Amino acid sequence: MSKLFVNVHDKKGKINKEIYGHFSEHLGRCIYEGLYVGENSKIPNTNGMRNDVVQALKEMKIPVLRWPGGCFADEYHWKDGIGPKENRKKMINTHWGGVVEDNSFGTHEFMELCRQLECEPYINGNVGSGTVQEMSEWVEYLTFEGVSPMADLRKKNGNEEAWKVKYFGVGNESWGCGGNMTPEHYANEYRRYQTFCRNYADNKLYKIACGANVDDYNWTEGVMKVAGNFMDGLSLHYYTIPGEFWTGKGAATGFNEKDWYITLKKTLKMEELIYRHGAIMDQYDPEKKVGLIVDEWGTWFDVEVGTNPGFLYQQNTMRDALVAGINLNIFNKNCDRVKMANIAQLVNVLQSVILTEGEKMILTPTYHVFNMYKNHQDATLVESHIDTENIGVEEENQVPNLHESVSVDAEGRINVTINNLSISDGYDIEGIFIEKEIKTVKATILTNEMGAYNTFDEPEIVKAQEFKDFKITGKGIDFKIPKCSVIHFVIE
Ligand code: AHR
Repeated sequence: MSKLFVNVHDKKGKINKEIYGHFSEHLGRCIYEGLYVGENSKIPNTNGMRNDVVQALKEMKIPVLRWPGGCFADEYHWKDGIGPKENRKKMINTHWGGVVEDNSFGTHEFMELCRQLECEPYINGNVGSGTVQEMSEWVEYLTFEGVSPMADLRKKNGNEEAWKVKYFGVGNESWGCGGNMTPEHYANEYRRYQTFCRNYADNKLYKIACGANVDDYNWTEGVMKVAGNFMDGLSLHYYTIPGEFWTGKGAATGFNEKDWYITLKKTLKMEELIYRHGAIMDQYDPEKKVGLIVDEWGTWFDVEVGTNPGFLYQQNTMRDALVAGINLNIFNKNCDRVKMANIAQLVNVLQSVILTEGEKMILTPTYHVFNMYKNHQDATLVESHIDTENIGVEEENQVPNLHESVSVDAEGRINVTINNLSISDGYDIEGIFIEKEIKTVKATILTNEMGAYNTFDEPEIVKAQEFKDFKITGKGIDFKIPKCSVIHFVIE
């Protein structure tokens, strides 16, 4: 019997709701088709945004959305995406399939999408191929209320009032697709660009500098040293890729037991990355004023056969559900440093929560995990520990069998999220809640065979269900967690 210890009296800090954030790039069918179909589409929409998708994302309580990229951000010139649509420039999306980008989804459309979703916008500016003036003017266009060339242009384009924009990224992957810069060069560029990103009236920007790829600690060191005092957040990108990036990442479906454990083992690396990048940040920022912003994470598999290789479309199985559950638990447990995280990407690209095909839409296993975890948003992380044993089919790819995090939300509800990483065994768990009497318990479970996924013909193969198989005891709750599952308990 494994013991789960929870001490709700030992409060660790706030889990920012932005940890449950998402990312949408002009890539494949994420923006166009997935989110935006245009006002004249037969697919039911409001001002061009798909009603079904917006409703599902609101239900999941999407807190923040990053846009327009990704690599696309550093070749995006925002002025191409404003004004009458028929006059907007058409460009080549060189990173993603070489398709024509007609700029029909631009600044106004993105802000409208965020309005409908009731989420915070996170806009990523162009350092790689843009100018300081261009970035400065975008901030002015978005947030300046008074009389100025950019505010006047915004008004001419139909928005009398300025928007509120908090999160602003200064470049993306500037070590790679965003300009192939060295850390020192980027850090100096960051200092210059961010100087002209002004705070107008009470709109206070939270400026996010481009951070490292995976374990490039040299990047974190270089950027923190030169620019640490000029930023609110520093990003980190880490994708779970079971195979090799260039030679074969592995298939999203039809994988075997070995692939399962390799994938989860690689997912758990997120913990080490946060710890080690965090340790470098601590040297320059011991008070943890700079947030670690994990603004790209999730699984990256080979694209589905027959789809455009530049569109990064992949299916989503129970394995993705576990990847999501583990990462979200890790972010919760590191909420002293991790202030935002954005899974890549929202719809039809990489580890999506939603897939669409024409007017059809399905919710992926990853969606259900985000929906089950939503009570953690803005809740207080509390001390927890679960006994684990190592499992797996290969010596070098062992993982702990169980993984958990616990919070107490504003209503005083205790939220316990636990993952069972085993594809073969369930485990008896004795939950011990220190000095806390338990009166009511409700639970939801997502479980199925490791390779199970939803399709447009059978959209509910993997679906969250009520879990009743627990017993309230004098000390807490006892239950058996089934193999390959994610559980959420709400305890009062
Ligand atoms: O999410 C896909 C791509 O991955 C992004 O455009 C880029 O930032 C990263 O390399």
